[in-house]
Amino acid sequence: MKSILARSLFLLTFIILFSACAEKKKKRVLNLPETDLASENMIPKPLRVIPTNKGFALDKFTTIYTSGNSLGFAEVGEFLAKKIKGKTNLDIPVNVDEVPDQEGIIYINQSDSLELNTPEAYQIYITQDSIILNSNTAEGAFRGIQTLRQIIPETSIDTITEYNVWNIPTGKIIDSPNFEYRGSMLDVARHFFSVKDVKKYIDILAYYKYNVLHLHLSDDQGWRIEIKSWPKLTEIGGSTEVGGKAGGFYTQEEYTEIVNYAAKHHIMIIPEIDMPGHTNAASVSYPILNGNGKTPKLYTGMQVGKSTFDTRKDTVYTFIDDVVREISAITPGPYFHIGGDESHVTKKNDYIYFIEKVEKIVQKHGKRMIGWDEIGQADIDSTSVSHFWSSKKNALDAIKKGMKVIMSPAKKAYLDMQYDSLSKHGLHWAAYIPTDVGYKWTPENYEGIPKENILGIEAPLWSETISNIDELEYLAFPRAIGYSELGWSIEENRDWENYKVRLANQAPFLERMDVKYYPSPLIDWKKSKYSYKEIEKE
Ligand code: ACM
Repeated sequence: MKSILARSLFLLTFIILFSACAEKKKKRVLNLPETDLASENMIPKPLRVIPTNKGFALDKFTTIYTSGNSLGFAEVGEFLAKKIKGKTNLDIPVNVDEVPDQEGIIYINQSDSLELNTPEAYQIYITQDSIILNSNTAEGAFRGIQTLRQIIPETSIDTITEYNVWNIPTGKIIDSPNFEYRGSMLDVARHFFSVKDVKKYIDILAYYKYNVLHLHLSDDQGWRIEIKSWPKLTEIGGSTEVGGKAGGFYTQEEYTEIVNYAAKHHIMIIPEIDMPGHTNAASVSYPILNGNGKTPKLYTGMQVGKSTFDTRKDTVYTFIDDVVREISAITPGPYFHIGGDESHVTKKNDYIYFIEKVEKIVQKHGKRMIGWDEIGQADIDSTSVSHFWSSKKNALDAIKKGMKVIMSPAKKAYLDMQYDSLSKHGLHWAAYIPTDVGYKWTPENYEGIPKENILGIEAPLWSETISNIDELEYLAFPRAIGYSELGWSIEENRDWENYKVRLANQAPFLERMDVKYYPSPLIDWKKSKYSYKEIEKE
């Protein structure tokens, strides 16, 4: 009640202030050129766009106001102001009471409207005088300001006034996500990526309304997160990577820095410790864990399926309990990913025994278990989640148990698959995935997995063939932009011919962000500072 009252008072003050300012002096009437909100290059495409063909002048007289502080709305306003500064160099005040010459207002408002039917739903009303963004939650407001960022023109008009004006098209946007889970995965185990690299990846994902970053933190070639009770994991297991160079790892403080940075972008981090296979780095660090009968050695190759924990040893479960406890304590999100894929040297009954025991450990530490689709073979709880990558049968078995499924079919959604046979990086064991193939599939209706069982989609980026941020960006972009639309926009709103024009117009943003995307020849990229050939030469 108190907060509703506070909010109403705030809104009232804002209206009074705004009207007072408007009366004090004659309002500017800017003769802005006609615009069309419906033909803006928004990705993912919003649910509904109703244009009114006038213009809101974003300029040095614009001010941002938000609902009260405690809800995270002020932070969303500050974030928007920072991004407007980056794009236009305008300094837009946020929640400042007395702004002289204030003209246009962007109001980011907490609304309890029933029309906003999911936490991420938002509506934007743009008129010549104001932009009002309504959402139930700061998360929804954050998604909404990404849309606003996308409709600020790349260039200003400087012929109407002596200062620059960015002409934002008027109209109404009504939007909410198709799937609640929209993720990407980054494999920091095969090659290690710095905190800085991960933050840059988060910046781009957030712009396209992703809400999950899954970090693949351990594999045969490397263990990448400090576990205080088992220090050799990073000392030994973190020491190298594919190709044999020095690896690396996140201290718990650095991991927390990533979690917090992601949270500011309303993105949840999901940690993955892959087991009982993909565990060579752990077993080299602590040979007592090993179950494949060989003396473990550091591994810097690219093969899979040779390692396993000893699933019948109590020490293994003491170890897993410590690892899950320490990571869960610094992971605010509800999920813990246990891998579970490609355990080719684990006997089937040992595998099932293992997954069932690990599920209990994950639950004991307050998390829901996610595992690659193989976990569907075990007798596990409906609250656990199957991560479909390869086996339709495993995913359908999981559904029979009442489990939800995350869609990452390797043939369609793996970001590490090459675009074509000329791609500089990537593999093609599942498929070549050109930009159009990555976009033209229907997660709602794939391999007979019913939509009501689908939590959402995720685009995994495995890192056997990439070792720095430029290479990461080459594989991730532009395809990850298409997956954002598959996750957010309803099927009726998705169309390759329409999408590819909007994608072409992402070039200025990607270049401003210094993203070394693959300039797919299928796309008529908006005038860009480099050509495909120049990139190939790099
Ligand atoms: C996987 O690609 N092994 C999940």
